[in-house]
Amino acid sequence: MNPPALVLEHVSRHFGGLKAVDDVSLTIQPCARHALIGPNGAGKTTLFNVISGELPATGGQISLFGEDVTRLAPHQRAARGIARTFQITKLFPNMTVIENMLLACEALDRRKLVMFRAVSSYADLNQRAAALVEQFGLSGRTHEVARNLSYGEQRKLEVALSLAGRPRLLLLDEPMAGLSAGESTSMHAMLEQLDPAIAVLLIEHDMDIAFAFAERVTVLHQGRMLTEGHKDEVSANLGVQQIYLGMGAAE
Ligand SMILES: Nc1ncnc2c1ncn2[C@@H]1O[C@H](COP(=O)(O)OP(=O)(O)OP(=O)(O)O)[C@@H](O)[C@H]1O
Ligand SMILES: [Mg+2]
Repeated sequence: MNPPALVLEHVSRHFGGLKAVDDVSLTIQPCARHALIGPNGAGKTTLFNVISGELPATGGQISLFGEDVTRLAPHQRAARGIARTFQITKLFPNMTVIENMLLACEALDRRKLVMFRAVSSYADLNQRAAALVEQFGLSGRTHEVARNLSYGEQRKLEVALSLAGRPRLLLLDEPMAGLSAGESTSMHAMLEQLDPAIAVLLIEHDMDIAFAFAERVTVLHQGRMLTEGHKDEVSANLGVQQIYLGMGAAE
């Protein structure tokens, strides 16, 4: 049987006395669609930083596809199949859409160390970059510099860039944040079209979107896992209702 895409065992990340992530254990299966929800400051982004290696864990163990990566650097984890987006856009603003895309594909292409690359592999790279641009509805903007894109287009380009290295586990940090209703719907549709072979962990504030996208849902609250399970179980969980719907126990 294939190992899980991701296993977290008692993972913590403290900032001084603040337990931003506190004893989180979680398994993400290959091909999973999993949402990570929780109020502001719950520790969601910190958990992503710990998974991708931007921040070392204070405690616990992290495995990617059966391999312990707890002590590996971000680029070493990326080489093992993990990719992520950030809550804030990180594009090269003066480069065009296709240049941003080509750079990402090239940087992450396994053949990058081949000095005398066949011309056909460049064609390959161009084709892949163009296909990702198209997949995210940006074909009409191919030669536009990134800073001239609308905010929604920039966020789409970012998700497209995260796919450049052909990840097997994708971490998306609020890709819908700040989008208009229409843009959000179109981003959601694009996420639904992602290769089913990629396991996706999505941070999302909008409960409707989170539950529509994911099969399983994890709720973080003050760094701790409040609940984890099939979305039907989680949505029925009273604690979640209390946090999100303001249904206090006394009501
Ligand atoms: N580098 C840091 N140094 C100190 N404290 C931090 C750091 N990063 C995050 N925190 C704190 O850790 C807690 C969790 O923050 P985090 O950004 O992970 O929450 P979040 O669930 O992503 O919130 P949001 O929904 O607002 O994005 C917060 O109290 C935050 O202030
Ligand atoms: Mg966050």
